[in-house]
Amino acid sequence: MTELRFDGQVAIVTGAGNGLGRHHALLLASRGARVVVNDLGGSVTGDGADAGPAEAVAREIRDQGGEAVADTHSVATREGGEVIVRTALKTYGQIDILVNNAGIVRDVPLSDMTPDDLDPMIDVHLKGAFYVTVPAWRVMREQGYGRVVNTTSSAGILGSTHKSHYGAAKTGLIGFTRVLAVEGAAHNIRVNAIAPIAATRMLAVTMAEGDNGRRLDPADLAMMHAVTSKLDPALVAPVVAFLAHEDCPVTGEIYTAGAGQVARFFTGRTKGYYRPDLSIEDVRDHLAEIRDETGYTVPEDSGGEIAQLLQAIAASPKPA
Ligand code: NAI
Repeated sequence: MTELRFDGQVAIVTGAGNGLGRHHALLLASRGARVVVNDLGGSVTGDGADAGPAEAVAREIRDQGGEAVADTHSVATREGGEVIVRTALKTYGQIDILVNNAGIVRDVPLSDMTPDDLDPMIDVHLKGAFYVTVPAWRVMREQGYGRVVNTTSSAGILGSTHKSHYGAAKTGLIGFTRVLAVEGAAHNIRVNAIAPIAATRMLAVTMAEGDNGRRLDPADLAMMHAVTSKLDPALVAPVVAFLAHEDCPVTGEIYTAGAGQVARFFTGRTKGYYRPDLSIEDVRDHLAEIRDETGYTVPEDSGGEIAQLLQAIAASPKPA
């Protein structure tokens, strides 16, 4: 079996001082990539800063014979993103891989949501991905090669209580991924996303409350702890590394990864219901047909969806 390697390549992994990002960085470095280990080093909710985690992971990589440099800038500002990319260029002269992984979490019911809750969540997850990707993208376009892996979340894709800001930022990254996949295609840049499930300090915070916002009882907690013992973050890294590899054939896709299982999330479109003089009552009366998942399709882009709509119109019986 040929080993997938990254010799001669340079990767930036944001939020690589802890949890998932640390494992992504360790795996890429162990397969030959030179890695910029970026991490601001704040708390799980985004307070404070500490150079320790990024430096510790960079040291860990070097101790194992790999090449890594620590960077402690925040992804949440335009300047931060530019400095992170400049660090890669100054240290290693190129960028082939960008893993947008940095993240924070803080549960807030929507009725209590203030700008102080909302802004950091959007700044770190959504704008942060823009701030690092834009300067990296220029380099990738220029060299005609790149791999970008974004980190989304089932909390946004599927829903989860008290995370409207987090979920909105995370699903914003799906739009980001889909559009960049289209935009990068001509430049041999592939862009995919993962929705990880892993026992990190972030999951521990999320688990302190049940998914529906209630406190977990001891039986639930015991069950959750049994599950989390299987959720080694190292088991998500192979999915990220494959999506970051030159051999990765896919782009614009979302993979859920946890405990060694990998699966794909996709956006399906039901066949739907068509009537040229559609009324509000038609929607009520045909809701089951509109929602029926039989024969759904997965349009490849927004143009593909419009093509399907035009087909449905063309296939409908002409009025007498
Ligand atoms: P973690 O808290 O262990 O690691 C996140 C890292 O990002 C931390 O080291 C933190 O210092 C860093 N970071 C935060 N803000 C930053 C900023 N502004 N600039 C640079 N670095 C910053 O959490 P975990 O679980 O490893 O999360 C990694 C990513 O995976 C996040 O984007 C998270 O939202 C996502 N995720 C995690 C899930 C899980 O089950 N652990 C589930 C779904 C998504």
